[in-house]
Amino acid sequence: MSATTSVSNEPMNSSSFELRNPATGVTSELPVRSGTIGPQVLDIAHLARDQGVFTFDPGYSVTASCDSKITYIDGDAGVLLYRGYPVDQLAEKSSFMEVAYLLILGELPTAPQLQAFSDSITRHTMINESLLRFFNGFYHNAHPMAMVSAVVASMSAFYHDSMDIYNPRHREIFSHRIIAKLPTIAAAAHKHALGQPFIYPRNDLNYCSNLLNMFFAVPCESYEINPVAAKALDLLFVLHADHEQNASTSTVRLAGSTGANPYAAISAGVAALWGPAHGGANEAVLAMLEQIGTVENIPKYLAMAKDKSSHFRLMGFGHRVYKNFDPRAKIIRETCHEVLAKLGRQDSPLFELALRLEEIALKDEYFVSRKLYPNVDFYSGIIYSALGIPRSMFTVMFAIARTVGWVAHWLEMISDPAMRIGRPRQLYTGPQQRNYVPIALRKR
Ligand code: ACO
Repeated sequence: MSATTSVSNEPMNSSSFELRNPATGVTSELPVRSGTIGPQVLDIAHLARDQGVFTFDPGYSVTASCDSKITYIDGDAGVLLYRGYPVDQLAEKSSFMEVAYLLILGELPTAPQLQAFSDSITRHTMINESLLRFFNGFYHNAHPMAMVSAVVASMSAFYHDSMDIYNPRHREIFSHRIIAKLPTIAAAAHKHALGQPFIYPRNDLNYCSNLLNMFFAVPCESYEINPVAAKALDLLFVLHADHEQNASTSTVRLAGSTGANPYAAISAGVAALWGPAHGGANEAVLAMLEQIGTVENIPKYLAMAKDKSSHFRLMGFGHRVYKNFDPRAKIIRETCHEVLAKLGRQDSPLFELALRLEEIALKDEYFVSRKLYPNVDFYSGIIYSALGIPRSMFTVMFAIARTVGWVAHWLEMISDPAMRIGRPRQLYTGPQQRNYVPIALRKR
């Protein structure tokens, strides 16, 4: 199509933009939709019908794929709200179970509501013994994210009786099951890698204490859960619980929009989270810090991060939405100080190196001009390491926390009567139609 279209700079009125195709003279009005806070969006749902064009937005940098009431981010101001509550208030005053209730059900619970919710999660922590045997099929050095995504997908083979996505009770059972069983599956993956016996969940423990027990207890001696470790883990889970339409959440929505069973959709989310540009960054940060090794090497690695011909990036730096400090990174950095001090590890060389790297990078013109700040995963791995969690499990920890957000978004989407299959368009740049050439006549 040779015609160009123009969008007037000013809104035609407060509620629509006028779009005119100069070649055809066809004009159409694009409604402007307002949320409760944040930028307005241009509703282009009828653009193809009215103008015969699609929009082009690789990476979905400026495209809202849905409306949502769950999480709000102001990337310029460094603000993150769960159902309207600032994440720093929740980090200070709330707990992961309470945040899970809030994200999924929309309001903070009363004490009896929280009790009932936590009890239900606790009573779903065991996994079917047959599911447990799946782990024997994995080689001992399988990456835990590979095991977790496969086993989560396999859960759909166990719960045929409660997978009607249009039945609200089935949806509730699914949501409690998946949140409850993720730590059990993660711990089974960890024990499999170590060659240690699986430790069954304990219903007398809270969510994070139970996780630590399943990870670190062994049958031959008693294991004392460190409350500092359990509290630190709970805080990390609060901070990772949701982040609106990020890559893994959008993956869960897209997979779920086909009507696929929710375990398959969550498994897709786990797979998307694994990448180093997303949840895999926490593992990559530690690898990078170990590679850098000493403060003297920082300039060399910063130069590599700035060199466009190198694939090296400063892991744990930069974010699609935050163009200011990621508020979660600030909290985690403070928590690092506290946790390392309480665990007697205040002289952690990797933490010292991370602090120096942040300081130096934030004075560097390259990072300043691109507004690249530490993100949530710059410091989280240092805390996980201090808790004894191996590096390969970091992204699994993230997946456990983010399962709550995935569930909240899946529920919001499925319960919306206007739900449609997610189906992006493309700008085709391949060959035009041509005729098949018999193999004997092909010349190269
Ligand atoms: N190191 C060096 N340069 C960077 C970095 C980085 N970590 N991040 C962005 N840049 C540069 C880009 O090269 C680009 O430079 P240019 O304008 O000269 O071309 C500019 O900053 C903008 O970066 P984009 O890649 O366009 O930003 P995008 O929004 O697509 O990517 C992302 C965001 C993936 C997070 C990116 O910053 C990155 O790869 N960071 C490192 C990985 C990471 O920490 N991921 C975790 C994100 S948080 C989470 O998902 C939990």
